[in-house]
Amino acid sequence: MFFKLVIVILVSLAAAEDLNFTYNGFLSANLSLDGVAQVTSNGLLKLTNDSGNDTVLGHAFYPNPVTFKNSSNATAFSFSTTFVFAIRSEFGLRLGGQGIAFVIAPTRGLPGGSLIQYLGVFNETNNGNASNHIFAVELDPIQNPEFGDINNNHVGIDINGLRSVNSTPAGYHALNNGGFRNLTLISGQPMQVWVEYDGIQKQINVTLGPINVDKPHIPLLSSKYDLSTVLNTTMYVGFSSTAGAVYTSHYVLGWSFEMNGQAPGLVLSQLPKLPRIGPKKISNFLTVGVPVMSLSLVLLVVLGLIYFIRRKRKFAELLEDWELEYGPQRFKYKDLYIATKGFKENELLGTGGFGKVYRGILPSSKIEIAVKRVSHESRQGMKEFVAEIASIGRLRHRNLVSLLGYCRRKGELLLVYDYMPNGSLDKYLYDRPTVTLNWSQRFRVITGVASGLFYLHEEWEQVVIHRDVKASNVLLDGELNARLGDFGLARLYDHGTDPQTTHIVGTLGYLAPEHIRSGRATTSTDVFAFGAFLLEVACGRRPIEAQGPDQNLILVDWVFSFWNRGAILEARDQNLSSEFVAEEVELVLKLGLLCSHAEPTARPSMRQVVQYLEGEIALPDLSLLGFSSNGLTFAHHEGFDDFAMSYYSSPGKGFSHSSYAAESAVLSGGR
Ligand SMILES: *[C@@H]1O[C@H](CO)[C@@H](O)[C@H](O)[C@H]1NC(C)=O
Ligand SMILES: *[C@@H]1O[C@H](CO)[C@@H](O)[C@H](O)[C@H]1NC(C)=O
Ligand SMILES: *[C@@H]1O[C@H](CO)[C@@H](O)[C@H](O)[C@H]1NC(C)=O
Ligand SMILES: *[C@@H]1O[C@H](CO)[C@@H](O)[C@H](O)[C@H]1NC(C)=O
Ligand SMILES: *[C@@H]1O[C@H](CO)[C@@H](O)[C@H](O)[C@H]1NC(C)=O
Ligand SMILES: *[C@@H]1O[C@H](CO)[C@@H](O)[C@H](O)[C@H]1NC(C)=O
Ligand SMILES: *[C@@H]1O[C@H](CO)[C@@H](O)[C@H](O)[C@H]1NC(C)=O
Ligand SMILES: *[C@@H]1O[C@H](CO)[C@@H](O)[C@H](O)[C@H]1NC(C)=O
Ligand SMILES: *[C@@H]1O[C@H](CO)[C@@H](O)[C@H](O)[C@H]1NC(C)=O
Ligand SMILES: *[C@@H]1O[C@H](CO)[C@@H](O)[C@H](O)[C@H]1NC(C)=O
Ligand SMILES: *[C@@H]1O[C@H](CO)[C@@H](O)[C@H](O)[C@H]1NC(C)=O
Repeated sequence: MFFKLVIVILVSLAAAEDLNFTYNGFLSANLSLDGVAQVTSNGLLKLTNDSGNDTVLGHAFYPNPVTFKNSSNATAFSFSTTFVFAIRSEFGLRLGGQGIAFVIAPTRGLPGGSLIQYLGVFNETNNGNASNHIFAVELDPIQNPEFGDINNNHVGIDINGLRSVNSTPAGYHALNNGGFRNLTLISGQPMQVWVEYDGIQKQINVTLGPINVDKPHIPLLSSKYDLSTVLNTTMYVGFSSTAGAVYTSHYVLGWSFEMNGQAPGLVLSQLPKLPRIGPKKISNFLTVGVPVMSLSLVLLVVLGLIYFIRRKRKFAELLEDWELEYGPQRFKYKDLYIATKGFKENELLGTGGFGKVYRGILPSSKIEIAVKRVSHESRQGMKEFVAEIASIGRLRHRNLVSLLGYCRRKGELLLVYDYMPNGSLDKYLYDRPTVTLNWSQRFRVITGVASGLFYLHEEWEQVVIHRDVKASNVLLDGELNARLGDFGLARLYDHGTDPQTTHIVGTLGYLAPEHIRSGRATTSTDVFAFGAFLLEVACGRRPIEAQGPDQNLILVDWVFSFWNRGAILEARDQNLSSEFVAEEVELVLKLGLLCSHAEPTARPSMRQVVQYLEGEIALPDLSLLGFSSNGLTFAHHEGFDDFAMSYYSSPGKGFSHSSYAAESAVLSGGR
């Protein structure tokens, strides 16, 4: 009893408030539907379906009664409503079909509503009878002469019957005096309708517009009519429609209503989407969409495949069965490519006789590396060479640059070394260096290189001949420790070359005469090169320096001439200030001459070199070793001529790299 009372009070309170509602789509609306009316799964109110069968009818009403007057003899309130509708003919046909009506009626359904031309609102007996108490706005695409319809595309205000109080062709007054524009009700396009009643002025305005324009300022229809006699105290608001056998559907997409005020605006973007217009759209999709889509798909797959193949080719490597045992020393080309940022020019550290050297950072371990790219066309001898690399890879000495591993591609070999931040020694020695080394640093470099070379010759499990000892192959680590690099590389070009050509690899000025003659590298030829290196470091000059056209300064001869005059210290680098140890400079210069002896047997071994440098044994007297005063003992001129001849007469393929070295030695006097 108590609850009932509370509910009654609540209901009357709610009713006292001015009613308003907004439906942007009808999924959450509790409409009262009859006939074939339905709310589709996406929220469209579909009043009729496109059965193409007999005429069908559909009604949809706001479920609750709406108070339009204070009492039965009072004047009607103002109200405003707006909705979006669409009349769709299937197959894109504009066959006509019935219209749609906004209705204010005394009952929720329209029990007497007839089919066909009565829009489901009236029937032939009650049409026009004032006892109907029905107000309607018709959107009518059919001309019914019996109701005085003006054309087959009109909007009308109907009171109690289908003979309109006022009607006009569908259209709208565009904003900003844009003129009147026709609209076709059955176009299938959604359109918006505003119905407004001013209870004081007794004026009914009806405005129509396409969905994408703002509400026109000038109404399409405006009629003076007092609805107080038409509308009862409580009424029902809704829509009514019928469809004949013409495959036409009537939709309402959104609806709002406000008593005594302006109907809330609809949020057009939230309105449910109309279904695609049937077969034509589908055929468009089939004839254009599907081929275009499948073509794009094929294109995409092809592009993907091309990308994949190019990537695969870009990072392709050569890997043969025999290499499997060197697995740990094998680097992935992709890793090296990423490490050096694709072998970018600004990662280039230098260009040597064998190829370009790039700086890099290994992607996984972030270790800094130097990658030497050696182009190598011949596969001959590669197996032995890689075996040698693998064994060299196990060499570890504080004065040797560690070879971390290798990678092999078609025509290309990549060697991965420890990165030496201070670069090669030569740039501290000649060509007016910006930074030079003082004597104690130079002496440390010399003893370091000697110790590294001694390790290669005698201390390791097998004899390794370096073949290319020179200042530019000596690298300086972070603490300026000398580290000998590039060992064994020369051997790559020693294998399998044409026997007709002299296969010498090395750099002119560091090549022992017997090496040029026989082509055979020995520990002795390494000692000869080390001698040239000693003079280089002490004098700050290249072994052969161009002094003019056809005139070269041969460093050994030059130093020898100072020795001959009994003033060997004068040959030292003038960049060395007075801070040098005279005994050490003299030792190094004399040892340089001794190592450069033309007779291999007269040269010391690396073991002896180390002992001399450490002062363990005294250097023999040079004058007792057959150094004659004319300097021919060094036989440099002879060797140079031989070499030049063999270079010009045998431009063999496998020779190209050593010839490069020779050429650059002649032109620039260095590496
Ligand atoms: C709309 O009606 C609700 C109650 O249903 C009310 O709270 C609200 O103030 C009304 N809004 C307007 C603009 O009248
Ligand atoms: C139209 O609606 C009627 C009644 O709801 C139904 O029987 C018929 O199958 C519908 N036709 C179509 C094409 O949806
Ligand atoms: C039309 O619909 C009715 C039921 O609503 C059905 O009995 C009749 O067979 C249909 N006719 C056609 C031609 O589809
Ligand atoms: C929907 O409206 C009907 C009356 O038309 C009412 O009985 C029913 O409870 C309402 N449902 C909801 C969920 O509001
Ligand atoms: C209806 O009655 C209310 C008071 O109950 C009054 O404020 C309002 O003006 C009346 N409206 C009309 C149209 O008579
Ligand atoms: C309206 O009707 C009520 C009774 O329902 C009556 O008291 C009142 O005088 C009437 N007013 C007018 C203006 O007729
Ligand atoms: C017309 O509608 C009225 C109710 O509005 C009903 O009483 C009458 O029977 C209907 N006549 C026909 C022919 O359907
Ligand atoms: C209007 O309808 C009522 C009842 O529905 C009837 O009594 C009356 O005669 C009708 N008037 C006309 C002019 O048809
Ligand atoms: C609009 O329609 C009317 C007929 O209803 C026609 O006379 C007029 O030319 C049309 N205007 C345009 C711009 O199509
Ligand atoms: C109806 O339209 C007329 C003319 O544009 C305008 O003066 C009047 O205020 C409008 N009434 C309503 C209720 O919108
Ligand atoms: C509407 O009001 C009239 C009097 O104004 C009354 O005769 C009629 O029965 C009412 N209709 C309904 C459905 O309440």
